[in-house]
Amino acid sequence: MESWEFVEKRCFTWLVATLLSIALCTHPDSRVTPRGPCGTCRGVEDTILTQSDRPSPLESRASGPLTGKVRVPGDKSISHRALILGALAVGETRISGLLEGEDVLNTARSMRALGAQVQRSGDFAWTVRGVGVAGFAQPENPLDFGNSGTGCRLVMGAVAGCPITAIFDGDASLRSRPMRRVLDPLELMGARVGASEAGGRLPLTLIGARDPLPILYRTPVASAQIKSAVLLAGLAAPGVTTVIETEASRDHTELMLKHFGAQIVSSPEGSHGRRIALTGQPELHGAEVVVPADPSSAAFPIVAALIVEGSDLILSDVMTNPLRTGLFTTLREMGASIEESGLRGDAGEPMAQLRVRASKLRGVEVPPERAPSMIDEYLVLAVAASFAEGTTIMRGLQELRVKESDRLEATAAMLRVNGVKVEISGNDMIVEGRGHVPGAGLVATHMDHRIAMSALVMGLASDKPVKVDDTAFIATSFPDFIPMMRGLGAEFS
Ligand code: S3P
Repeated sequence: MESWEFVEKRCFTWLVATLLSIALCTHPDSRVTPRGPCGTCRGVEDTILTQSDRPSPLESRASGPLTGKVRVPGDKSISHRALILGALAVGETRISGLLEGEDVLNTARSMRALGAQVQRSGDFAWTVRGVGVAGFAQPENPLDFGNSGTGCRLVMGAVAGCPITAIFDGDASLRSRPMRRVLDPLELMGARVGASEAGGRLPLTLIGARDPLPILYRTPVASAQIKSAVLLAGLAAPGVTTVIETEASRDHTELMLKHFGAQIVSSPEGSHGRRIALTGQPELHGAEVVVPADPSSAAFPIVAALIVEGSDLILSDVMTNPLRTGLFTTLREMGASIEESGLRGDAGEPMAQLRVRASKLRGVEVPPERAPSMIDEYLVLAVAASFAEGTTIMRGLQELRVKESDRLEATAAMLRVNGVKVEISGNDMIVEGRGHVPGAGLVATHMDHRIAMSALVMGLASDKPVKVDDTAFIATSFPDFIPMMRGLGAEFS
């Protein structure tokens, strides 16, 4: 047993070190959130993701079969929404399985800054005590969303319906992304942009509407972020706010609004679209939210298992909402063995266990109307296509240009540098699969988590190792990707 004297001395040393670090704020902070107080100073839960300032390169090499059973982290889209709706509800929201990645932690911090009580109550378990619809308080400091377009755009919607002013900011990647697509409808609803960089880029000041107007809005692109921003602003407006989309995008906001007590009706519109009508000014009540595993994160071990010979993996609780599973459909068309079992659901979100076995893949054509249901998965699909026999044509990828990086160019570059023949033709990407990938490339990740993970997956089956220049941004969505993959048999060094 430790003596009291030793315990006292250790506590004293810890106290001095902590006070000093708080005073000086000298902890190495995450590059993912470069401004404000460091991780340790922000609170216990925020220390989960403290990284160094130096880039963290990593090499991935041909590995033996990947085997085992894992649960990838909670769904990022649902995690953001649970925190935001919890903050707009009256009473307590209990969330289990929250994704504790940098993107979602930034949303949690912004909800706190806007007046909600947000606490971590255990591993991946959080409680939120909300302020009620339109009840946000004026934040004292700029809201920093780091790398997250979803967090930023959804919170813009929620703020637009409150009579407050807030400054929105993010990292270099987020500062380069278009915000006009969200600001346009929010201005129609009565919000105003005080100041912004050219083209409505961050940092920008948003002045919420005192009396927001309900609108009928046709989204110019299939984007759940635009739709969700309008619906979240519409919560504060009297009457019915309607969003029409010609291609249905992920419907987590609609499902969760219903779960929190809002009246919201979704009906088909045209051949692939939806019309969503929300009755404004509901009293949202706190709710229990179980966050299923993220299919967009599951995509990486799934493709890894398909391309590494002899692999046999089980992934539990993977969300199987049909508006998110375009990748699974496509991989099955390519010949992938992905078995689904134990389908169940929570708060309208279905989930299942997936068994994935290494498979011989063939090239396919992916239609443009499938893009919204797999918009974040084309990078890793391009990796699968590189190992397939034959040509894969992915059509209608224009939205990839405005993600965390220009993913169309960055994906093509990742393939080319590893000896794969790829072409971009307009908004289509064409990959010539030759059954194997030479590898030996150094992949530039461009502050994009999904490029880093896709490249590391590629290296697990390529002839020569694949190197990525920086793995730091993986922490935005899948903080334990590297140890989890190693646990399955992946060789990273
Ligand atoms: C998201 C919507 C998608 C997706 C993003 C998450 C969401 O963006 O790329 O990672 O949670 O609403 P768009 O709606 O802009 O396509």
